[in-house]
Amino acid sequence: MFVKMAKEEDLVDGGLMLISGNGKEAVLCNYEGKFFAIERRCGHMNAPLEMGTLTGYILTCPMHSAQFSIITGEALAGPVPAPQTQVSTAQKTEAIPGYLATLMSGIRTENVKTFPLKVENGWILVDL
Ligand code: FES
Repeated sequence: MFVKMAKEEDLVDGGLMLISGNGKEAVLCNYEGKFFAIERRCGHMNAPLEMGTLTGYILTCPMHSAQFSIITGEALAGPVPAPQTQVSTAQKTEAIPGYLATLMSGIRTENVKTFPLKVENGWILVDL
């Protein structure tokens, strides 16, 4: 069932907005005046995608930079491991970033869902 989520003017081009309803959460996206709704949680480790960045139709996760198509929900690029740091003098501390990168390499990034959406009389309606 389609439900009014926002007015078209509430979301600028490139904007992201958290929406919810029916016990579900999604991110409303404006790509050049066209609107899309995508599952809120990243397909890698569940980061909130409304805190990411939208470049064209590609949404980049704020946590490890996995990228998703807002049109299909397809995972386009896997996560980027945290950069190696050289600030610590303790060998144990220095091993942590590499260990985390190894752990992350074993976590597959799943596609995310998209939701049906339509615009009527300036309202964006989504079927969550
Ligand atoms: S949680 Fe999104 S890329 Fe890791």
